[in-house]
Amino acid sequence: MKTFAELLWQEINRENMIGKDLQTARQFLDQGDLVAIPTETVYGLAGNALDPKAVSEIFRVKNRPSFDPLIVHTSQLSRISDLVLEIPAQAELLANHFMPGPLTLLLPKHPRLPDIVTAGSDRVAIRIPKHPLTMELLDLLDFPLAAPSANPFGYISPTSAQHVADQLGERISYILDGGDCQVGIESTIIGFESGSPVVYRKGGLSIEDIEQVIGSVRMQPHSTSNPAAPGMLKSHYAPRVPLLLGNLPDLLRQYPNKRVGLISFQEAYPAIPKGQQVVLSPSGDLAEAARALFAGMRRLDQLELDLILAELLPESGLGRAINDRLKRAAATD
Ligand code: TXA
Ligand code: MG
Repeated sequence: MKTFAELLWQEINRENMIGKDLQTARQFLDQGDLVAIPTETVYGLAGNALDPKAVSEIFRVKNRPSFDPLIVHTSQLSRISDLVLEIPAQAELLANHFMPGPLTLLLPKHPRLPDIVTAGSDRVAIRIPKHPLTMELLDLLDFPLAAPSANPFGYISPTSAQHVADQLGERISYILDGGDCQVGIESTIIGFESGSPVVYRKGGLSIEDIEQVIGSVRMQPHSTSNPAAPGMLKSHYAPRVPLLLGNLPDLLRQYPNKRVGLISFQEAYPAIPKGQQVVLSPSGDLAEAARALFAGMRRLDQLELDLILAELLPESGLGRAINDRLKRAAATD
């Protein structure tokens, strides 16, 4: 049992741990500690990308397998050339159009970056997050930040400082509070194979937007759990409660005696208590739905439910990334 003084101390620490103080964040990062950072997509668990010890701490805190590489974050296009060996013309086009923004580019890694960041791969994932606080922080630092999403491995990504505190609060030095994430779904990851663009993860930048700039892109199917193809683990973003996908009225008929939570695109279902429903966007706006998805999944996961039932959204724009996350949340292998 903890004494009253210990509990009080814990409470004070918890309160001091979340804030908007860039100098505090900077000090912790300078000394090799981890800080959670806001981005427009999801919160990241950040450490000095040039310091193998800080990077290994990220893997430890997240309980992430060492074969799953980390994205390196910087604030300026001009700094990317310090991190990669070359930038193909199409990558440069994309960078000029969409960075800062919810896009991650896989490029040939500069030897200056420790191998642990890329899990030994000769390609590194680079991103410029579009969040004023984090961009300012990156400008203050002498090094880039390695940062995966700030959730325990396999769980739902955090879209608020409180989400991070709830799950990793005791294991990290500071959470930089930048409010709710405005995109709400992770970045789109794109690389190049034999000169052709390949999308490895659908995300906050739509395929349609990318194709307008560089023409048609190939999608790499997400179905493998092969460590040689990281970023494509099938079961991911998973709540603790089983999640089933399908036509909601049909699913509701199938499970009349279960305590269910619902995730629907636009419609509410009067037969189910309001608190057990997440309506992603009553007006049918896919960007609003993306912003609401992870927080909604978390909210339902905190209730004592037997099942979460969900429906797929239109397979266009951000709907594709949302559907990808729903399918992975439903996957059991
Ligand atoms: O929006 C985002 O991308 C967020 C924010 C914090 O920037 N980050 C994020 O990181 O989603 P994470 O680690 O949760 O997901 C990154 C994915 C992983 O699936 C990883 O396997 C893949 O990117 N990845 C990272 N570096 C890679 C590399 N060098 N080669 C192949 N895949 C890579
Ligand atoms: Mg993640």
